[in-house]
Amino acid sequence: MTRRFTGDTLLIATHNKGKLEEMAHLLRPFGVKVVGAAEMNLPEPEETEDTFVGNARIKAHAAARTTGLPALSDDSGITIDALDGAPGVYTADWAETDNGRDFMMAMTRAHDALEAKSAPHPRLAQFRCTLVLAWPDGHDEVFEGVAPGHLVWPTRGAAGFGYDPMFVPEGYDVTFAEMDRWEKNKISHRARAVEKFVKGCFGG
Ligand code: IMP
Repeated sequence: MTRRFTGDTLLIATHNKGKLEEMAHLLRPFGVKVVGAAEMNLPEPEETEDTFVGNARIKAHAAARTTGLPALSDDSGITIDALDGAPGVYTADWAETDNGRDFMMAMTRAHDALEAKSAPHPRLAQFRCTLVLAWPDGHDEVFEGVAPGHLVWPTRGAAGFGYDPMFVPEGYDVTFAEMDRWEKNKISHRARAVEKFVKGCFGG
């Protein structure tokens, strides 16, 4: 039996503005107030696990322990079939530079790796999202969502964040970065995981 969320404020254990905005938008119908980790001055814990759920657990439990509030974390990334699932949990790492994250560099790396292998088209990929809601007493619940699609080059569109400009979701001709947020939020990996979270924890 999934434990219900009964508070009025939900702490989103992320420093990623794109994730926080999408989450706030997805949770708006449920009347819950959403606060981000940066607003609460929470440190960013190191993600030392090699699975999405492992890293999501680290972030949610650290935030719940520190604040005494139930905390929802999101660990997500893109898995590319022809690269044996890379970058996967290392999706953000591929963008790291000495001056912050550079997603054009990360997308170029993915494209170059596919070209080097002469990977056939369509180049199938999936965005994956694991949400963990952790309570201060150590209990947690896990919810997962997947958005299948394929990769295009050159990149297209300026909305969204991360790898959105190279990802065309299944059933569409446009990239996530060419859709408006409302459109993306209907079908994204995050939307699918949030739907399960809402069903489980709000009974919605
Ligand atoms: P982490 O979960 O913070 O370790 O990083 C996940 C990374 O995956 C993000 O920094 C983004 O680059 C990428 N990512 C996750 N969700 C999305 C999305 O909806 N669109 C584009 N990129 C995403």
